[in-house]
Amino acid sequence: MSLSSVYRYASFISLLSLAVASPAPAAASPPRCKVLPGDAAWPKTADWNYLNKTVGGSLTATVPLASVCHDPNYDEEKCNDLKARWHMPIVHEDSPTALMSGYFQTDKCSPFTPREQPCELGNYPPYTVTVSSAKDIQAAIRFAQSKNIRFVIKNTGHDFVGRSTGKGALGIWTHKMTDVKVINNYRSSYYNGPALKMAAGVRGAEALPVAQKAGLHIVAGSCPSVGLVGGYHQGGGHSSLTSTHGMGADQALEWEVVLADGSLVTATPTKNRDLYWALSGGGPGTFGVVVSLTVRAFKDGNTGGAFLSFTSEGISNDTYWSGVEAFHANAPAMVDAGAAAGYLVGADSFLLAPMTKPGASDAEIRKILKPVTSKLDELKIQYTLNVTVFPTFLDHYTHYLGPIPEGAYPIDRTMGGRFVPRSVLKNDRSLKSFVGTLRELSQTPGTYLGIVAMQSSAKKAIAPNSITPKWRDATLSILAQTQWYFGDSSTAEANQATLDELNKVVIPALERVTPGAGAYGNEASWANPNWKRDYYDVNYNRLKLIKKKYDPKDLFFGPTMVGSEAWTTKEDGRLCRV
Ligand SMILES: Cc1cc2nc3c(=O)[nH]c(=O)nc-3n(C[C@H](O)[C@H](O)[C@H](O)COP(=O)(O)OP(=O)(O)OC[C@H]3O[C@@H](n4cnc5c(N)ncnc54)[C@H](O)[C@@H]3O)c2cc1C
Ligand SMILES: *[C@@H]1O[C@H](CO)[C@@H](O)[C@H](O)[C@H]1NC(C)=O
Ligand SMILES: *[C@@H]1O[C@H](CO)[C@@H](O)[C@H](O)[C@H]1NC(C)=O
Ligand SMILES: *[C@@H]1O[C@H](CO)[C@@H](O)[C@H](O)[C@H]1NC(C)=O
Repeated sequence: MSLSSVYRYASFISLLSLAVASPAPAAASPPRCKVLPGDAAWPKTADWNYLNKTVGGSLTATVPLASVCHDPNYDEEKCNDLKARWHMPIVHEDSPTALMSGYFQTDKCSPFTPREQPCELGNYPPYTVTVSSAKDIQAAIRFAQSKNIRFVIKNTGHDFVGRSTGKGALGIWTHKMTDVKVINNYRSSYYNGPALKMAAGVRGAEALPVAQKAGLHIVAGSCPSVGLVGGYHQGGGHSSLTSTHGMGADQALEWEVVLADGSLVTATPTKNRDLYWALSGGGPGTFGVVVSLTVRAFKDGNTGGAFLSFTSEGISNDTYWSGVEAFHANAPAMVDAGAAAGYLVGADSFLLAPMTKPGASDAEIRKILKPVTSKLDELKIQYTLNVTVFPTFLDHYTHYLGPIPEGAYPIDRTMGGRFVPRSVLKNDRSLKSFVGTLRELSQTPGTYLGIVAMQSSAKKAIAPNSITPKWRDATLSILAQTQWYFGDSSTAEANQATLDELNKVVIPALERVTPGAGAYGNEASWANPNWKRDYYDVNYNRLKLIKKKYDPKDLFFGPTMVGSEAWTTKEDGRLCRV
């Protein structure tokens, strides 16, 4: 058979099966499944060597971080050190493949499983290119496309929904691309003023100090080790500066992106506008690999802040919860005044740490909190209130959210999310049932109710973007978490129980008091069956059209990403079209 007749025969067969199976158009159908190691079609050593040459020797075969806890690489001292620090983000940042979510780590190579148990790859990609330029990214993308293998992007590994890892994938690791450049006067039709250009691997830990030196600050997340260019800005990005300056994605001026076909393009509010719109809030890693992002920067200066705490000690539980209610009744006014807050609501303690408002004096901070503290006084609740005014945003940030780069938050948690619309807090009855739900949920040990409060109005955005409109209605975003027990097979049952608690009890209870509110896709569960509606809302269909245009073959895939419903993971971890 000649080559062309083979093709004709193949397309005849596929036409036949299409005719039987579905009325889809008769295009040459792409392979249904991605290739895995061990398959005949998996690249040969010579292919990998060739790729390695094209990326200047920066291809590595994966050795999981915890291999030092297993034979033949066992090293007691290194392993004990890993065990002690495994629950902190920073441990997982300096590896091309490590990630923080316990669920997606699996126990195939965990520091807590027996030394004799072989260290296997599990979900980790077998090969990773540590990229340092757009050219490296292009080479990796072309290789993955031509070999039909899965492709994943990792920067820091913070992702809660498993989007920065993948079995049998070729990974790229952007962590070493840490250039930050101050642009004193960015000029365009949509913005004139100071800006910061950040390469793909830049975290808050790098960007904030550079900005501070230039007398500026930028919108960044509450953990200095979160990458800014990847998950944070593309997923929306909330900040202690959001009530003043807007969300992360609202700051985007210019994205430099490598697309699925390997081309390098720029997306701004006036150039490749659909791509700009989608990248700014439509979910990370979905439309291309971002090489750099330029964001708006702001004049730095005095930053007001507060720490407020009270407990149920010496008072009745009802009184304690009246105090919690008073805080929430005042939350809309607090965010309208330009302040943002992060706090924890526990069964017997409330901890606001911190409230932030750039430019605010000591007196102004006290005034914003006055309706709350007056009510606490009235209820005879003793509280601790510290008000601070630091000379720069970074000083404030380091005090409350440092140290830099480690940050304050552990990652031995599993995450679920829910927005709380302003309307729920403004109405006395819905406020009471919301606070009643917090009270009920707080009673289960191991349930953490972290909450951020801000005013995320779209008016502050550089240009229209794809941040879900539900963010704009929300005054709060709840980060509901249950404990994740890093461990061996003995903790599997406990982990299943806390996952069930989160997904079947905690989130549904929050949904009942916030009907239709949605959730922040970066701080939510991969197990939410309503992820399209909850994380993207009315933007989903438009995002999907843009996805089809820029990534027609779905090179970029991850759980809950736009377009991911077209794929399924088989028993052996293989990714296949549904
Ligand atoms: C301790 C902690 C604190 C947090 N605090 C905040 C906060 O204050 N505010 C907030 O909004 N969120 C916060 N988050 C959530 C955070 O925004 C998300 O986890 C986000 O996905 C992290 O992005 P990353 O690039 O650092 O992580 P990664 O896991 O490396 O990547 C996340 C996603 O981005 C994609 N990606 C990475 N780089 C690129 C690139 N160059 N181009 C295209 N895609 C890319 C990855 O493929 C993946 O899909 C926090 C998370 C943790 C664990
Ligand atoms: C890629 O090349 C570098 C430098 O020659 C080498 O150290 C590395 O082991 C190679 N990677 C793989 C996967 O072979
Ligand atoms: C008050 O709440 C705490 C924490 O949930 C609980 O342990 C305690 O039993 C409650 N006290 C009363 C009197 O209900
Ligand atoms: C608040 O003030 C107290 C007393 O001065 C101090 O011990 C504590 O560290 C302060 N906390 C914060 C977060 O500033």
